[in-house]
Amino acid sequence: MQEFNLAVFSSHFGSNLQSIIDAKKNGKILSSVKVVISNNQDSYALVRAKQESINNLYISKTNYPDDNTRTQIILNVLNENKIDLILLLGYMKKIPNLIIKKYQNKIINIHPSLLPQYGGSGMYGIHVHKSIILNQEKYSGVSLHLVNEEYDQGHIISQLKIPVNKNDDETSLQTRIQLIEHLLLVSTIQLLEQRIINLGLFDDME
Ligand code: GRF
Repeated sequence: MQEFNLAVFSSHFGSNLQSIIDAKKNGKILSSVKVVISNNQDSYALVRAKQESINNLYISKTNYPDDNTRTQIILNVLNENKIDLILLLGYMKKIPNLIIKKYQNKIINIHPSLLPQYGGSGMYGIHVHKSIILNQEKYSGVSLHLVNEEYDQGHIISQLKIPVNKNDDETSLQTRIQLIEHLLLVSTIQLLEQRIINLGLFDDME
């Protein structure tokens, strides 16, 4: 079994973060969140981290205007917390290429659609669900994928597909999708810990 030191990047509500915190408390996963980073000072994810005494940092263009300094600060934090795996859970900023390079195959993003469908620039949050309803799609779902330099285009690690109901609107669909996100996130961490999902990504971490 593998145990990971996790970093979570989150911009808003942090319900996905909470699902990992709860899974750890309930003994469903071994890995634990060591640090939460947000670009939004008012993010509820930072509050959740504080409540659990998890290291939490607000890092944005406002408090660190210089791009290189900001990237270096994030890298230092990741290093100090011995982070194995970075989870982007509703993080609204692009990860700098230097971080992608240093953490190649170790950055995972959650996306509320069946990628490669409904991914890419402008496709986030409620915009995804609006498009699904507008196009009368029969199915939607959640994807976890590795992060590379292109938005939503990295290798897909896991997906969960659900039917769109006839009476769904974007809000009802979003509510169901968020529940599915929490399930897929926790079960994917379990599969990574058990090396059922391995893909040779973590061979240097014996
Ligand atoms: C999730 O729906 C995720 O797919 C999207 O942003 C949302 C974050 O939710 N990228 P939360 O902040 O974890 O509650």
